[in-house]
Parts: sequence; C-alpha cells; structure tokens
Amino acid sequence: MEATVEKRIGLKELADKVVTAQEAAALISDGDVVGMSGFTRAGDAKVVPMALVERAKNEKFKIDVYTGASLGPEVDQHLAESGVIRKRGPFQADRAMRTLINKGEILFADMHLSHSAEQYRQGIFGTVNYAILEASAITPDGYLIPTTSVGNSPIIAEVAENIIIELNVSHPESLIGIHDVYVPEEQGKRQPIPLTNAADRIGEKGIKIDPSKVKAIVISHEPDAPSLIVPPDEETQIMANYLLDFFRSEIKAGRLTNRLAPIQSGVGSVANAVLDGFADSEFEHLQVYSEVLQDAVFNLFDAGKVDFASATSITLSAELGKRVYGNLEKYADKILLRPQEISNHPEVIRRLGLISINTALEADIYGNVNSTHVSGSKMMNGIGGSGDFARNARLGIFVTKSYAKGGAISSIVPMVSHVDHTEHDVDVIVTEQGVADLRGLAPRERVPLIINNCAHPDYREQLWDYYNAAVEAKGNVQTPHILSRAYEMYELLEKTGSMKK
Ligand code: COA
Repeated sequence: MEATVEKRIGLKELADKVVTAQEAAALISDGDVVGMSGFTRAGDAKVVPMALVERAKNEKFKIDVYTGASLGPEVDQHLAESGVIRKRGPFQADRAMRTLINKGEILFADMHLSHSAEQYRQGIFGTVNYAILEASAITPDGYLIPTTSVGNSPIIAEVAENIIIELNVSHPESLIGIHDVYVPEEQGKRQPIPLTNAADRIGEKGIKIDPSKVKAIVISHEPDAPSLIVPPDEETQIMANYLLDFFRSEIKAGRLTNRLAPIQSGVGSVANAVLDGFADSEFEHLQVYSEVLQDAVFNLFDAGKVDFASATSITLSAELGKRVYGNLEKYADKILLRPQEISNHPEVIRRLGLISINTALEADIYGNVNSTHVSGSKMMNGIGGSGDFARNARLGIFVTKSYAKGGAISSIVPMVSHVDHTEHDVDVIVTEQGVADLRGLAPRERVPLIINNCAHPDYREQLWDYYNAAVEAKGNVQTPHILSRAYEMYELLEKTGSMKK
C-alpha cells in the first residue's frame, strides 16, 4: 500500500477493505438505490461509477441515483449515457443527463435541496442499498473526512445499508479541517441549530461512520471536473452595477450597512459574474453563506472583500482550481463546508438574514420566476437551492439577462411557463436593463417596473400590448390575465423560432 494511502486510512480495521474499482462496482445489484456524494461537480465519486459504466457494456442493470446535487461527467454524463440510471434526484446540471431526462429515458425527481436530507431520513427514496462516498481520509477515530463537498453525505452514510468509500488522495491534505458536520436529530426531537454567524463552527470534523457498513475502499486519484461557467461579460458587469446601486439605496434607507448581510449566490455563470462585480465596490468585510462557492468568492477573498465563506461545496473553473487548491492554506481558515441541510436550512437563512442572488430562466410581468423548465416542458437543471434561499432570505433577488438565444427569447414574459418561485418569494429582479424592486407592491404596481426596467426594449411593446389587453378584458382585477393569450409568445417561438411579433 502506498504511504499516502496508508496514512489516510487511519482506522486500521478498514485497511483490508481496499479493492479495485471493478470489485467495488460488482457489489451493486440491478434495482439498487445508490446514494452518492457530490454537490455541483465537487466531491463526487468517480472511479466506481466509471467501473459501473464498463460493467454496463456487458450487462443490463438499472439503479436509482440520489446525491447531494449535480455530479461530474462520470455519473451525470457517462453513467447516464450507458443506460444504467433509472431515476435521478435531487439536482443535475449536465447536457447529456438533461437530454435523457427530456427524452423520457431517465426519471428525475427535482426537489428543494434542503428537503432532500429529510427525504433520505424518512426513506422516501426507498432503502438506500449502497452509499458511494468520496473521502480524503478516514481518521483513526472513525470519521470520514469529505473532500470538496459535504452535501448529503452525512445522511447518506447514516441511512445506507452498505458503504463504498472512494479514498481520493489527489485532494490536498489541507482540506482536512474545513468541514463542519452538524446533523440534526429527527423532526420532533430536534433542537434549534446553534448557528448565529456564518463563521460559526457547530459540528464535527467529518462524518462518523459505522465501520461494519464499509464493504469496500477504492483508491482514486481523479480530480473534480472543473465547473463550466463562462467568464463575466459586459452585460453581467452592468447587472452587477445595478445590484450594487440597489444595495447603496438600501444603505441610504437604513436597511443595510456597507458590510451588507451574508450573501448567497446561486449556481451558473450569471450569478457568479454578478458576484464578481463586488470586487471593485466599496463594500467590505462581506460574509458568504451559500451552498456553492464558485470562482467569484475566491476572487473576492483575493480582493480583500470577503472575510468568511460558508457553503456545502467548492466548484471552480480549471484556472481557479489550480490557484485555490495550490494555495488552500491561504483560504482554509476562512471557509467551512457544511451538510446541505445546514447550508440551505430555512431556519439559518432567516436568522442570518441572507441576501440571496439566484438566476432565473424567465420572470413574468407580475414577478413569478421560472428557474427550471424551458418553455414550460423541458428540464434545464432543477430548482436546486434557489427556493430554499429565495423564500427565506432577507432579500430574494433574481438575476437574468433580459433575453436568451441571441434575442429570439425574451426572459420577461406575460405568464411564466412554469413557476418555481412565486411572486411572494421574489423581492427584486435585475437584468442588464435595470432593477425592479417589487417589495410591498401589488401585482399591477409591479408591471411597469418589470416591463420598463427589466424587459429588453425589443419586447416592451409586446408586453404592454398584452397587459393593456388583459386590463381591457378583465378590468382592474388583482392580476389581469387573458388565459388564451398568456402563452402566445411561446407559440410564436415554436412556430417562427422567435418570440418577436
Ligand atoms: N428560455 C430558454 N433558454 C434559456 C432561457 C429562456 N428563457 N434563459 C436562459 N436560457 C438558456 C441559455 O441560452 C443557456 O443555454 P446554453 O447552455 O445552450 O447556452 C442556458 O439557459 C444557461 O443560461 P445562462 O444565461 O448561461 O445562465 P446560467 O449559466 O447562469 O444558468 C440557470 C441559468 C437558470 C439555468 C441556472 O442558474 C439554474 O439552473 N438555476 C436553478 C438552480 C439554482 O438557481 N440554484 C441556485 C441555488 S445555489
């Protein structure tokens, strides 16, 4: 056994469990429910899933895969394409996986990420036959130290009948110590979560496991797949500037100080780029309380803007990955990774009073937001944690460019084709056109702000035509709509390739 491996298996009774990936993959049976580590391509098992892909070349079998959130290509692309996955939850963000979901070949249970731990706990996914968990070490006192995410691994380890550990020795040892694993009691017996500051350490150094459940340990040297976010552009910079101006007006109104409030920023290129825009601002001593730490958070650390960041995973582009993991000691005492049921817990989000910034696919003229379904039918990624945060935050902010697909699609529509965040959860909408602060407004008061400040100029007239026709037909009812016309922009898109009249 290599010295690094020997050192990282501190619990010596498990040393004889080391097997090949093929041997571990052979333990999984047709019909099994498998819980895997991983959250937004970080800290996911890699070599056992690839051995399952190999096995599927000669054998037909299906499994259900539940995780923390989206995984890297080993599972969400290759295992999906090999036909092994029957059902997937609670989040994915892969082109291949999404294509198979939308072809009906994989079932997808999309859920609030803070709810998923409870569903494991209550057995909603069925008996979890195997957990496959990536770890950076197993300590002599029986703790599994996760790698770049904690996600749902603690609850998966607790409920699974058997555990396969992927001991990944490519992650730096300095990862050890950045985890804070607090697992609530079952509902009804639960105490308040003792977290009153984003930087509070409330749990244990890792995941306490029952060694008798460990059936295999596989050594891995595979790094996480880098994130696929695209760099900030001129329009995301404009959106960031609008957001910064909005925060300035909140400070003037006495609702915030220039430390703002702990910030959550969602997955994807747009939210990352908007957060990046804080680097040149006057705001300082910021805290981040989020589910995923993307590139922007580390840029803000380097710019001296952020004091502390708490999340459940770290997902970086290839370039940032080299910079951060090569110098992890520099950041290690400023970050904590928690289970996702803590990073996304409504109790904590409300207590800390977060500013939550998530990305919408589209919003409607009354402020309802769709984050998941393209034209109402096709799954994009899933709701992820956006609902956990938006509903419970001090400020639920949604950002989106005002258009998609080169202008063929307007991100502001008369009625969203699928509702993830109702008008009650959406405080502020920001596009590259401007800001709509919807707080305290009745639906008809929101319309001019959303159309004039957020919609692309090419679509404003069309949106006004719809609204005016709705008022003419229905009068000044609470929320004027003409149901037979509400989706006419999607019909146009389907017929002509553009929402433009
Ligand atoms: N209709 C159709 N497609 C649209 C669209 C719309 N109204 N708006 C955006 N898109 C497409 C883009 O064209 C792009 O397509 P491509 O991948 O083929 O280029 C894709 O959606 C991604 O859009 P982009 O503008 O690059 O934004 P993003 O990378 O920031 O992702 C979401 C946006 C909404 C897909 C992403 O943020 C998401 O999945 N959100 C839900 C989960 C979430 O918010 N979690 C946060 C808690 S951490």
